[in-house]
Amino acid sequence: MSDSKQDKLIIFDTTLRDGEQSPGASMTKEEKVRIAKTLEKMHVNVIEAGFPIASPGDFEGVQAVAQTIKDSTVCGLARALDKDIDRAGEALKDANSGRIHTFIATSPIHMQMKLRMEPDQVIEQAVRAVKRARQYTDDVEFSPEDAGRSEPEFLCRILEAVIDAGATTLNIPDTVGYNVPEQFGNLIKTLKEGIPNSDKAIFSVHCHNDLGLAVANSLSAVMNGARQVECTINGLGERAGNASLEEIVMAVKTRKDIFPCSVDHIDTTHIVPASRLVSGITGFAVQPNKAIVGANAFAHESGIHQDGVLKNRETYEIMLAEDVGWSANRMVLGKHSGRNAFRTRLQELGVEFSSEDELNDAFSRFKDLADKKHEIYDEDLQALVTETNMATENEFCRLVALKVCSETGETPEANITLSVDGEEKLAVASGGGPVDATFKAIEKIVCSETELQLYSVNSITSGTDSQGEVTVRLEKGGRIVNGQGSDTDIVIASAKSYINALNKILEPAEREHPQAGDV
Ligand code: KIV
Ligand code: ZN
Repeated sequence: MSDSKQDKLIIFDTTLRDGEQSPGASMTKEEKVRIAKTLEKMHVNVIEAGFPIASPGDFEGVQAVAQTIKDSTVCGLARALDKDIDRAGEALKDANSGRIHTFIATSPIHMQMKLRMEPDQVIEQAVRAVKRARQYTDDVEFSPEDAGRSEPEFLCRILEAVIDAGATTLNIPDTVGYNVPEQFGNLIKTLKEGIPNSDKAIFSVHCHNDLGLAVANSLSAVMNGARQVECTINGLGERAGNASLEEIVMAVKTRKDIFPCSVDHIDTTHIVPASRLVSGITGFAVQPNKAIVGANAFAHESGIHQDGVLKNRETYEIMLAEDVGWSANRMVLGKHSGRNAFRTRLQELGVEFSSEDELNDAFSRFKDLADKKHEIYDEDLQALVTETNMATENEFCRLVALKVCSETGETPEANITLSVDGEEKLAVASGGGPVDATFKAIEKIVCSETELQLYSVNSITSGTDSQGEVTVRLEKGGRIVNGQGSDTDIVIASAKSYINALNKILEPAEREHPQAGDV
């Protein structure tokens, strides 16, 4: 494969697979589809949608993404085991373009301690897995897990063998985030030069951020011949996360002058909406100073900077906020806006409704919101659509009414009415604060036996009339779900979010960890 300046850098997003492996970040099938649609609009080349053998839920997630996405390749992960590969092949059956990504560990410590296999057996198993995957698709990726701590000579042997067996992409993972940029870049160069048939496959990298070097390592690899980068929105992922998609894409785009390949095919204006969507669904807030997608990423506070930017933007800005999807026009709609304006603005934001009912539901929520809040911003619209989507999923429990009394020197009390399986139920509870009282009242009705793991409130826009966006994380029997709710009243937003989480936790799903490895 050529390494010319015209090369396209393949962006492989693994938010739905490695990102989802982050404790507490599990996603429903519908949430995966929603994120995948945004990634498709961004023109991400490959979307890794999950690990089909892990659980029925994971299988269905990959299958649903494969059935929905038409323009990006949809990928499923599989250990180098027949049963994993068959399951991935089955989940990807309906994909327009499907890829199987199979892996086996190659570092001495993993082979000896985890797999208890000899190096030659590992090669044999890898070759067998790639051949089996080729029975389902021509697009097969192979990863030597923990490549960052593997011996380069052994990597050359196994990679040469899997290319001969039919692997079309070779992904080099720094599984434990141990490498540093110069060393990792050199590893890619050594492999490309040392493997006789290396020109028959695309080299990819997959870096974890344990030392905060995932993006730097990935970019160093690109400088040394990698033409696919595996990354996630907001850098979501196990432990310290994976390389962040937005940072990789914007680095290559902004420094066109030095990178040997391009990301011109990526529509970067979808980056901020994707970041919001992922953060809303997972409950993982984005730190304000996070590059590209943090709230302060384009804010100039100091007088000297502001003065410079006003005189000439390029004095202090290297990218345009609009290019990554920060909206320049603030107030978008108000109380008197009609259905058409509402639909049009959402279309501009990349949101499409699957039915007239869904549009009507969102529009009626918009009217309610416009009664409480005069200026409706893009962020409000996005939160409203998220809530409309949430509401359509498995809603056994719904908030009907909530009255909360909170007074200095008095114990707060919540009076709640819920509709549970169509039947209205009432409860009153007191608590340490109005939110605590509300959650206790809900529990009096539902008795879910869940444990609250996270409660967070975020203001969607600025101003005291802003909507509060609440995330609640609940755990039951090892299963963790996130719920979201938004409202100008944060106690109501909290109740909606708690109820949303309860509606999700009723679906049992056993999960198996991809790297647990019984290979
Ligand atoms: O980090 C890792 O090694 C992985 C592999 C499955 C590619 O996620
Ligand atoms: Zn990983």
